[in-house]
Amino acid sequence: MNPDVVQRAYSALADRYVETLGTMDVVHPDDLRLIERHLGRRRGPVLDLGCGPGHLTAHLHEHLHAAGADVTGIDLVPEFVAHARAIYPGVRFEVGSLTGLDRPDGTVAGVLAWYSLIHVEPADLDTVLAQLRRMLTPGGSLVVGFFDGEVCEPFAHTVITAHRWPIDEFVRRLSAAGFEEVERAQRGQEGRRRPHAVVAARAV
Ligand SMILES: C[S@@+](CC[C@H](N)C(=O)[O-])C[C@H]1O[C@@H](n2cnc3c(N)ncnc32)[C@H](O)[C@@H]1O
Repeated sequence: MNPDVVQRAYSALADRYVETLGTMDVVHPDDLRLIERHLGRRRGPVLDLGCGPGHLTAHLHEHLHAAGADVTGIDLVPEFVAHARAIYPGVRFEVGSLTGLDRPDGTVAGVLAWYSLIHVEPADLDTVLAQLRRMLTPGGSLVVGFFDGEVCEPFAHTVITAHRWPIDEFVRRLSAAGFEEVERAQRGQEGRRRPHAVVAARAV
């Protein structure tokens, strides 16, 4: 989906998003452990792409900084970046699109894309994953959280249209882009929370 359209939709709801989803309280402990397992020992640049209010970026910064990681949160939405900079002053945040990053090839140690690839059109996903692979060092880690589904299809997400993906199909796309699956997890519907999937992959 056009990043300008996504940006405008999130900007319009940014305050509400920060209030309801902008803290570590909403991150499932299993997800946090998985993220830490795969991004927790990275040294060098680690990017939280589509970082939203920045709580996961700050968490990663807090846990990885001493070990030599340099964490940056990047998001399309200026309101999220302004909020994150104000709340987490020691952490680096940038306004930018995950579809147009200018990091040199093979320089990024780890990437978190937590529910930010959900707005990428299926036809564009391969290109986006190839860009992430290009930026990562060989052996670099990618962790992606997304909505799980039986088929790849769009649905009316609260903010703007998103896609759910069958996890096998997502992993196939990752393999085609030069990643190797390292770990996956799925959870079914929990209350109002839609079925969830996460894949951790290594750049090969
Ligand atoms: C569902 S929210 C998830 C935010 C955050 N990762 C979290 O866990 O709360 C999706 C986020 O992805 C961002 N996003 C979507 N498309 C993007 C793009 N092309 N580049 C950068 N950020 C993007 C949105 O602005 C929004 O902050």
